[in-house]
Amino acid sequence: MTAEPLLVVEKLEVVYQRAITAIQGVSLKVYPNQIVALLGTNGAGKTTTLRAISGFLGLDDARVTEGTVTYRGIHLENREPYEVTRHGLSLVPERDKVFPNLTVAENLAVVPGRRGRSNRRMLEQVYHFFPGLKDLRRREAGLLSGGERQMLAVAAGLMCDPEMLLIDELSLGLSPVAVQSLTASLVAIRNELKISILLVEQSAVVALEIADMGYVLENGRVVLDGDAQRLLNHSDVQEFYLGHTGGDRRSYRDVKQYRRNRRWYG
Ligand SMILES: Nc1ncnc2c1ncn2[C@@H]1O[C@H](COP(=O)(O)OP(=O)(O)O)[C@@H](O)[C@H]1O
Ligand SMILES: [Mg+2]
Repeated sequence: MTAEPLLVVEKLEVVYQRAITAIQGVSLKVYPNQIVALLGTNGAGKTTTLRAISGFLGLDDARVTEGTVTYRGIHLENREPYEVTRHGLSLVPERDKVFPNLTVAENLAVVPGRRGRSNRRMLEQVYHFFPGLKDLRRREAGLLSGGERQMLAVAAGLMCDPEMLLIDELSLGLSPVAVQSLTASLVAIRNELKISILLVEQSAVVALEIADMGYVLENGRVVLDGDAQRLLNHSDVQEFYLGHTGGDRRSYRDVKQYRRNRRWYG
């Protein structure tokens, strides 16, 4: 890739409550117009990484203690969320994605724009990518299905007029049909708006199918990274995420351990 990366995370360490080190030495890059998958099981450090990039660390009493986050060369570590948003990054969080007591239209109306572009223009764009939301615009968000709520969350992220979307757990708890529709929308958003996407996912298949690159986190460290297609075909990913050899291994590290043991004893 010849272009400069937009987002560069380098040797990032985040500590909660001055005591709990959640991630260590995490490095990743997102290039313009790329979809990058950040994979890992529960507790691997995916949300912490997104929080560190987007500035949402304070609420959880966490801090970046080592390493850097730069966007277009500008340092973002330990900045406030509004500053990060102003630079063009928009977070779709894991929880509390929408205001349940507001309608769909109201949820979209309360998002502040970034570049002074009219709210109405952005809204047209959002309804173009999520036509279903237009039909549901008078519905209270609390009454939406899981898939519709996720659509609304991504749509609200788009209303910020970002250059890069950071999406935490796209497919968790959703039906395959809903996931299919969402991933198709993400690809369209990337293709038509030239927005880059950092996509946190527990499902390697869902993410790597639409991603250009992927990173696998385990216990707060990157254990595997590379081209999405290569990762999808990687024996470790197949074994651990796609269960191609069966067994009940608990972590990527166990797989590695297992493979080492097999080599030694097998
Ligand atoms: N608010 C918090 N306070 C203390 N530790 C936390 C907090 N949030 C997450 N952690 C810890 O940080 C590690 C990574 O968590 P997280 O980033 O949420 O992982 P993931 O999103 O991959 O499931 C876990 O060990 C988790 O227990
Ligand atoms: Mg998480």
